[in-house]
Amino acid sequence: MKELLQKFSEIETPFYWYDLNVLDKTLQALKEANRKNYHVHYALKANNNAPVLARIKDAGLGIDCVSGNEVKHALENGFEPSQVVLAGVGKTDKEIEYAIDQGIFSFNVESIEELEVINKIASSKGKKPNISFRINPAIDAGTHRKITTGSKENKFGISDEELFRSVDQIKSMESIRFIGVHYHIGSQITDIGRFKNLCVRINEIQSGLVERGIELPHLNVGGGLGIDYLDPDTKSIPDFEAYFNTFTENLQLLPDQELHFELGRSIVGQCGSLITKVLYQKESGATKFLIVDAGMTDLMRPALYDAEHMAQNLSSESSNMVTYDLVGPVCESSDIFNKGIVLPESKRGDLIAIRSAGAYGETMKNAYNLRELAKAYYSE
Ligand code: LLP
Repeated sequence: MKELLQKFSEIETPFYWYDLNVLDKTLQALKEANRKNYHVHYALKANNNAPVLARIKDAGLGIDCVSGNEVKHALENGFEPSQVVLAGVGKTDKEIEYAIDQGIFSFNVESIEELEVINKIASSKGKKPNISFRINPAIDAGTHRKITTGSKENKFGISDEELFRSVDQIKSMESIRFIGVHYHIGSQITDIGRFKNLCVRINEIQSGLVERGIELPHLNVGGGLGIDYLDPDTKSIPDFEAYFNTFTENLQLLPDQELHFELGRSIVGQCGSLITKVLYQKESGATKFLIVDAGMTDLMRPALYDAEHMAQNLSSESSNMVTYDLVGPVCESSDIFNKGIVLPESKRGDLIAIRSAGAYGETMKNAYNLRELAKAYYSE
């Protein structure tokens, strides 16, 4: 720890720190738990840093993208087009053209109108891309409302009823190859029972499609497995065993049907921390503010989703524990990391680590208030 603190003190704060050893262990655990060799596509939106991607690629994972630029980034980082799936409710013509030209594995299509556009563009190019339909299963993922995607009021996917009604129309499109269905009910799901509910719905919908003469060689169940934000040290590796077992035990796969997953947070969440320095402290009534140099521009999750990330004072050796509101410098009242967090007595210059920031940390950073963008550093 002393050595690390010395190293950290030489880097300009705030910065992201990635422990690649944690990432390696997570990838190893994922591999061991995936006994059936299901296809796992890493959700690039969680973290797109080159050293992180290199390890994920070496572990043999495919990639899940949500924009043309993400597809480009994945290919530039060594992933094969055949490993790429492309989702998103609002794919532009330019993105569709680019992905068709690259020959990606599959489009996860979110509306009939989008399918018509893909069919038309593919036809003009004399191509026949693979497509999977994203179905909104109307299931409650039991997570924060802003990261729930599989309920009726969400913009994602289409209902199974609409898909059933559209079967003939889909079959008549000659420039697409319908290879399966796709689901993703939400993110940071910690109750495994929610995935069991998803399996039950998938089985129902799948038999409806088979009855209507649709072949489904691929089934993609998305991602969403949560991590333990409050205990990143002892719970650094998510329970991939329980996760995969839930699908193995509850899904009725068709003969030779391939099962695909799209995991993001559970792979990269625990390997990253945001390292920041205490600038000032002040009191207002009973509240003691600890003002640090990182803010919501570096890590948006607390401001956007009321997310809690564990914070640690790396420098203080005080045994006096104090309750603080840990806040950033941005001119917004929502620029708060933790309300009422208990830390050893802290002072100007102390280094604070905001943990579990490897997923949806850097990829969501921005330069509001014309702030500098935090840089990334790695353990090796
Ligand atoms: N597949 C699809 C279609 C998705 O939309 C997502 C995430 C994933 C897979 C990966 O989900 P994961 O395994 O990482 O939960 N910014 C939010 C999370 C947004 C997730 C968006 N979609 C946060 O910081 O919590």
